[in-house]
Amino acid sequence: MQRSPPKIGVVICTSRKPRANPQIASFVVDTIKATSLKRPRGVAPSLKFIDLQEWNLPFFDESDVPSQITDPSKYDHAHTRAWSQEVRSYDAFIFVTPQYNWGYPAVLKNAIDYLYNEWKGKPAMIVSYGGHGGGKCNAQLRQVLGGINMIPTKKSVELAFPGKEFMVKAARGKQLDLNGASSSGVWSGAERKNISEAFAELLDLLSTNVSPERCKTPSQTNPPSRK
Ligand SMILES: Cc1cc2nc3c(=O)[nH]c(=O)nc-3n(C[C@H](O)[C@H](O)[C@H](O)COP(=O)(O)O)c2cc1C
Repeated sequence: MQRSPPKIGVVICTSRKPRANPQIASFVVDTIKATSLKRPRGVAPSLKFIDLQEWNLPFFDESDVPSQITDPSKYDHAHTRAWSQEVRSYDAFIFVTPQYNWGYPAVLKNAIDYLYNEWKGKPAMIVSYGGHGGGKCNAQLRQVLGGINMIPTKKSVELAFPGKEFMVKAARGKQLDLNGASSSGVWSGAERKNISEAFAELLDLLSTNVSPERCKTPSQTNPPSRK
């Protein structure tokens, strides 16, 4: 049996154009690399973005209830089979999401609802952002992740926009000058610490919760297909 490094999917949870989400997801990954992966405990995990805008899934259109499907070939549609293969290939997830009208984006709920067994039992970390940090969307997503039997970290991260000007720039997809590698600048204080602590918890959950995917031999593991 070969033990491969844990694979963590960083979900970019929006689809509008323009948007701030990719910049903020990159900030989260850069922060993790600077604060948590400098001295990796055991095998360093790989972090890969999963952009829901690129996936462009239609509104959920499967004929069966996903929790009843354990064989992905039984899904009706090729897009569901591809999405299933993608989600199945990760050991854990970091959801980086804005708050939209006190909730999380519909495109994220749609992407979640397509699957069940592919999410089940996997650790998850939530990073929300918005005018006040997106606490309401963070709590709602936590509840939904419980519904698909994921294991959210106890610690959540809420990134509050530092002011009106920043909020306008974010909404227009302008450059936010975030730097996860730096200990100064926007979100470099408590937020940086929170990201690092939540990620440490995610790694702890991963080490006590080895997914069968991680014990597969290379020949058993197909590369994730996008289309
Ligand atoms: C449909 C919509 C609803 C929003 N609702 C909220 C909200 O409830 N709370 C908040 O702080 N910001 C809200 N905002 C502002 C977003 O936090 C901000 O526009 C952010 O850039 C959205 O992320 P995105 O650019 O990645 O889509 C909303 C934005 C949109 C587009």
